[in-house]
Amino acid sequence: MKPDIQSILAGMTLEEKAALCTGASAWTTTPVERLGVPEMFVADGPHGVRRMANPHHSKGSLPATCFPTASCMASTWDVDLIYALGQALAEECIALKVDVVLGPGTNMKRSPLGGRNFEYYSEDPYLAGQMAASFITGVQSKGVGTSLKHFAANNQETQRMLISARVDERTLREIYLPAFETAVKKAQPWTVMCAYNKINGTYGSENHRLLVDILKNEWAFQGLVVSDWGAVHNRVTALKSGLDLEMPGPRDRRVQAVVGAVHSGDLDESIVDEAVRRILRIVFMAAETPKGAPFDASAHHALARRVAAEGMVLLKNNGILPLQSAKRIAVIGRAAQEAHFQGGGSSHINPTQVDRPFEELQKVAGDAELSYAEGYPEGMAFDQSLIDAAANMARPADVALLYLALPEAKESEGYDRTDLDLTGQEVALIKAVTSVQPETVVILNNGAPVAMADWIDGPAAVLEAWMMGQAGGGAIADVLYGRVNPSGKLAETFPIRLADTPAYINFPGGAGEVLYGEGIFIGYRYYDARAMPVQFPFGHGLSYTTFAYTNPRVSATSFRDVDGLTVAVDVTNTGKVAGKEVVQVYVHDHKSRLARPPQELKGFAKVELEAGQTRTVAVSLDFRAFAYFHPGYRQWITEDGEFDIRIGASASDIRCTLTVTLQCTLDLPSILNRDSTLRDWVEDPRGRRAMEPFLHLFTAPTQAAIAAHSAAAAKGDTAMMGNFMLELPLREVLYFEGVKLPVSPEDMLERLLAQAHGRPT
Ligand code: BGC
Repeated sequence: MKPDIQSILAGMTLEEKAALCTGASAWTTTPVERLGVPEMFVADGPHGVRRMANPHHSKGSLPATCFPTASCMASTWDVDLIYALGQALAEECIALKVDVVLGPGTNMKRSPLGGRNFEYYSEDPYLAGQMAASFITGVQSKGVGTSLKHFAANNQETQRMLISARVDERTLREIYLPAFETAVKKAQPWTVMCAYNKINGTYGSENHRLLVDILKNEWAFQGLVVSDWGAVHNRVTALKSGLDLEMPGPRDRRVQAVVGAVHSGDLDESIVDEAVRRILRIVFMAAETPKGAPFDASAHHALARRVAAEGMVLLKNNGILPLQSAKRIAVIGRAAQEAHFQGGGSSHINPTQVDRPFEELQKVAGDAELSYAEGYPEGMAFDQSLIDAAANMARPADVALLYLALPEAKESEGYDRTDLDLTGQEVALIKAVTSVQPETVVILNNGAPVAMADWIDGPAAVLEAWMMGQAGGGAIADVLYGRVNPSGKLAETFPIRLADTPAYINFPGGAGEVLYGEGIFIGYRYYDARAMPVQFPFGHGLSYTTFAYTNPRVSATSFRDVDGLTVAVDVTNTGKVAGKEVVQVYVHDHKSRLARPPQELKGFAKVELEAGQTRTVAVSLDFRAFAYFHPGYRQWITEDGEFDIRIGASASDIRCTLTVTLQCTLDLPSILNRDSTLRDWVEDPRGRRAMEPFLHLFTAPTQAAIAAHSAAAAKGDTAMMGNFMLELPLREVLYFEGVKLPVSPEDMLERLLAQAHGRPT
């Protein structure tokens, strides 16, 4: 029988309610035994289950499968695979008696220096949102909860618990919120975890606008909001702001503060009740799933290997891969013996087993003879003798495989990276080995981009193997030998140098504040806008076969925004082996009132094709695929006009372009005010209508500028005068133009405003 939450709530004392709103231990909620309310057990996340044996401890987790981290997951671009991964995670939660896994993390990769980027999906909100939604749906399909984190604008580790992200409304809506929005609307995570940081001066845990107005009201989030561990500052303010559950506990003084605030009248008890209702709903939902059934560790290890192989990105290949006839293989680098497969911090999993890359390679390399050299010491030390030994071993070999891992000191939760570089020893090693052995493959283990400009020309191939999870060693062997045809595509741009990156001059800020000065232009949106070369573009990834795109088509060349449209293309595997292609659909707006990125990813599909096979790939584009957030209207708007639909294999490899015409169906209110410029008036349909009867009173140049409607379109000296007027507030134009009006300019302005806003004049 389902528990009656309303009557349980009615039977609870204020003290019990306040206690339920704060954890009982580091990982459990507070039970109310008297009323049959069980405790709920939570565990990190996001790429494995970090279940503490003792709920009061933060160390000593039980063995669980360590899957590849989110950078690798996202590079699969395979929503079904991520769903399957979610289901496997849930099975492990069930076995380990965990009710909610603390993931996925879906913050944007604002700068490649972000210390936790390895735990996040992408620089693109659409891709990240699809990944997060699939992950959540997979986990929750088995009756286990998730925690979508860290809400929101949690994009750096520097001053992680106090920095204030200064980010404008449009940027929040278009870049930092949509992945959360998609995940909430599509998948309804049981919990959402607030961020440590402040957003425009207000802590994530006290941010009423984010937690209540947007998350709970606008997006209709049904679950509970949990704090990040230690993110609550003022418990009463946090409750009022929509933060339901504080973790970790126990924190008796917090409970007392809530009770006291209700007694003093500072806190309305109905606010506590609302939090309790949300918590009880999830606690009882969790209790419905019987726990304890063991999971199939070897099946999950195999799944981890599949995800790793699908997520690895073949960045460069002059034809050396897949390996075929190499008989003597020089295996170089510590990462060949000790897999670097996860990052430091709260996501650190105690793996059930770990593949040793060297051994896995030996298993698939048949009778090839493998030798090994360490190549580089642990950490950041430098040792020339290891480089010399490696080069000597590489010289006579047929092929050298360089396994390079970024040391943990360079990448972890808790602090940001300070550069994009491999260690000095690793770079020197690549140069030394490639100078004696051109047939060298570099295999990288890192969670975020590294700079390559200094050495990329040396090796014959480069495989980005990410923080690849416990089975990644085998996955590398699978890809090197073509047992798996690589199909991973970058979910983030690899820049040439740090100074090229969008947030370079504003990251990580300081003195408590970081300015998101690049606005909506992060990742490829920035590089595209600046026509800037990059090392490897967003969406890039090579295969052992080739694909042709033909017969691109749209369901309608002219369409209404609310109807959206469907894009289709035929994809043919034109090579000799089976493979998978990720078809990416970008949208480019020809003209808009506010600046927009040159193109944005709005759809994708991964398709598997036998050699010679053709399949049709279709992608739907809805209203939001064409809309942008207008801070004046405070809503998503579309504008009449032409858009290009670009279908491609990466952001820089567009194979087909189709032009379509959108009809806007919005009936927008006027946002004109006393400061609005003549241009604002002309561009606002209601404003233009109100002004129409008076336009003939303006001087000829101004009339010309109004007709041309844009400064760029008008030419010559007279046009210059008109353009000058376009940028002035209408009230000033009325003076400067010496327009003979029936009433004073002030009264005229009031009259026009009233008309534009539909008020009586
Ligand atoms: C991290 C969260 C994590 C929590 C519990 C925090 O420090 O930011 O991602 O889920 O700890 O370990």
